[in-house]
Amino acid sequence: MAQQFTKRDLKQREALTATSAGFMRSLPLLVANRVGIFALLAHKPKSLRQIVRALHTDREATQLMLNALAGQGYLRKSSSGFMLAPVYRKFLAPDARLYVGDTLQHHYNLIFRWIRLEDILRHGRKNMLAALPAEHDCQETEHFIRAMENISRVSSQEVLRKINLAPYRFMLDLGGGPGTAAIAFVRRHRHLRAVVFDLPDPLRIARQEIARYKLTHRIHTLEGDFLADPIGTGYDLIYVSNIIHSLSNDEIRRMLVKVRQALVPGGTVMIKDFFLDRDFVNPPYASLFAINMLINTPGGRSYGYDETRALLKRLRFDQIRGVHLTPHTRILIARLPKIARKRKTKRRGTSP
Ligand SMILES: C[S@@+](CC[C@H](N)C(=O)[O-])C[C@H]1O[C@@H](n2cnc3c(N)ncnc32)[C@H](O)[C@@H]1O
Repeated sequence: MAQQFTKRDLKQREALTATSAGFMRSLPLLVANRVGIFALLAHKPKSLRQIVRALHTDREATQLMLNALAGQGYLRKSSSGFMLAPVYRKFLAPDARLYVGDTLQHHYNLIFRWIRLEDILRHGRKNMLAALPAEHDCQETEHFIRAMENISRVSSQEVLRKINLAPYRFMLDLGGGPGTAAIAFVRRHRHLRAVVFDLPDPLRIARQEIARYKLTHRIHTLEGDFLADPIGTGYDLIYVSNIIHSLSNDEIRRMLVKVRQALVPGGTVMIKDFFLDRDFVNPPYASLFAINMLINTPGGRSYGYDETRALLKRLRFDQIRGVHLTPHTRILIARLPKIARKRKTKRRGTSP
């Protein structure tokens, strides 16, 4: 019988099944991070016995796990035991500058939410957003905030590399989470002062971080809900990073109206997000991330670059431009006119 498939078919088939079994690669990484295997083995090799003792884990399971982690390249196995592989030390050792351990914790938490994708697909998110088991909630928030810090530590440097923030004097980091961007921007530009606006839990961590960098005289925090509470005024820059994807269309519009009111004439708003192209398919990370928002928020999704640009225009922002930060992250930059345009008002009623 003639061969029905090509080498390319086989390769694609393999890639497909590898994706479908992706959890088998992902879970050992996430669980090893969670129980502290990488932290324990960050700087010195340890024997199986030492590891089991330190982590209070099952001997047989630990042995299989360590071998698998070595097989994936995360650990090095030698006669002295197991140790974090040097190439991963800069990401998985807790003191590393490019540490991603908190992001991995956050990804682990997401599994419990993503598992409900089928139910959400069948019944809609509105009917499925009921509270998750309570034991996840508290820790989840802490992990989420710390994960934001991991991610923003790198992306803020990218912003500084690609966008000149030297002209700005007083900025608002709206939904600034742990304050990572405000800290990075203020450290780079010594004339800049900042306000970090967020809900109470992220601000608790932001205050610790601001104090750690000895910046309490230049960065203040403001607590509240940016859809309901005052966000301050007099800013010449408002930075809105990874915020709009968790909001509905209407919430974004309301938030941007507040941004417009809080800016000085000629002030700038920068919206950083996973913007989609016109097809709403690409970049693939952005359309996948929309699912994450479907699962985790009442009205969020990934937004189109063009639709967000059009909204800014409708809200009378101008000089709108986009800057690519990473293959799937862009920043939309827009300015308010220097002098507020006079609104055309129709005279009604009697003349004087
Ligand atoms: C995905 S994080 C982004 C944090 C930070 N801007 C960054 O880029 O790393 C979203 C942040 O917005 C905050 N946030 C969401 N809704 C908010 C609201 N209604 N009022 C104030 N903060 C809000 C969250 O608490 C969280 O810190």
